[in-house]
Amino acid sequence: MGQDDVRHKENRERVFWQEFSVPWRFPVIYTRNVFAPANNALATVFQAAGPVPVLAIADSGVAEANDGLADAVQAYASSHRSALRLLSPLHVLPGGEKCKNGSAQVDRLHRLFHKHKLCRHSVVLAIGGGAFLDMAGYAAATAHRGLRLIRLPTTTLAQNDAGIGVKNGYNSFGRKNWVGTFAPPFAVISDLNFLSTLPKRESRAGLAEAVKVAVIKDAGFFQLLSGQRKKLAALELQQMEEMIIRCAALHLEHMAAGDPFEQGSARPLDFGHWSAHALEEASGGRSSMARRWPWEWLWIVSMQQKKGS
Ligand SMILES: NC(=O)c1ccc[n+]([C@@H]2O[C@H](COP(=O)([O-])OP(=O)(O)OC[C@H]3O[C@@H](n4cnc5c(N)ncnc54)[C@H](O)[C@@H]3O)[C@@H](O)[C@H]2O)c1
Repeated sequence: MGQDDVRHKENRERVFWQEFSVPWRFPVIYTRNVFAPANNALATVFQAAGPVPVLAIADSGVAEANDGLADAVQAYASSHRSALRLLSPLHVLPGGEKCKNGSAQVDRLHRLFHKHKLCRHSVVLAIGGGAFLDMAGYAAATAHRGLRLIRLPTTTLAQNDAGIGVKNGYNSFGRKNWVGTFAPPFAVISDLNFLSTLPKRESRAGLAEAVKVAVIKDAGFFQLLSGQRKKLAALELQQMEEMIIRCAALHLEHMAAGDPFEQGSARPLDFGHWSAHALEEASGGRSSMARRWPWEWLWIVSMQQKKGS
């Protein structure tokens, strides 16, 4: 506690300046075949704390496209008994933007966490796209004032942006992310193989994010993307992998260097989000933000040109 500062003697007002800092550190891992028993990425995240009680939940989109996901999670836990203990078989819940419209899925997860008696020593392992991770992240952050969360992002946008940061939330009052918290994850593990089942339209949303970040932050990255544009347009996995990892690294650097809890002005990396969010809200969620932000760019740039700046 800081010094007792008596400012207004006549009012006997006493102010204590409370100050502390809490360093955050979490691994962001890129791998393949995360649930192959020989892959130690997930098991090593638990380090010596094991066996940690884990509740695994998955986005219905990824579970439907990856037959055998529940068995793979189960088999992984059986091969790494000293690191983790599954509290139940994999729970599959709806994914996509609709899962974060309102609090219904958050309430459902809270009931599940309560049923399985999760506490702050347990881990929620959430597998899915950005919308599912936002919703599940909020549920985890608000149960017992914060359960540990491991994110396994399964879309390009979730692997290069949405799944690696500190934000979560859901849409309310017809507004994007109106309810939410800042809550750093315990770990993030991206399995690039998940991208092979992703619809092309979704893969392109993550590509658009990388172009935006490159334009704002890294001319060399922009040149690389334009040099590989044909392979990227064809969504070739090797080029997509390079794009995802470099984009994620720029996001992580940006967060660490500046203002992770966005106390100051809006993030420069949110360039394009304002009107994109508005367009997504106006379309009732039919038009995704990731496909709309280029319109804000065009609008901002043309306004600047008109102003002659
Ligand atoms: N928290 C943040 O910092 C942050 C940052 C950017 C975006 N976001 C949020 O992310 C969301 C968009 O995320 P998104 O682009 O990942 O889309 P999404 O989560 O809406 O997923 C798109 C669709 O793909 C399905 N899916 C997911 N993985 C799959 C796979 N491997 N194979 C087949 N289908 C799969 C989902 O079920 C869904 O139907 C938005 O809600 C946005 O607000 C959050």
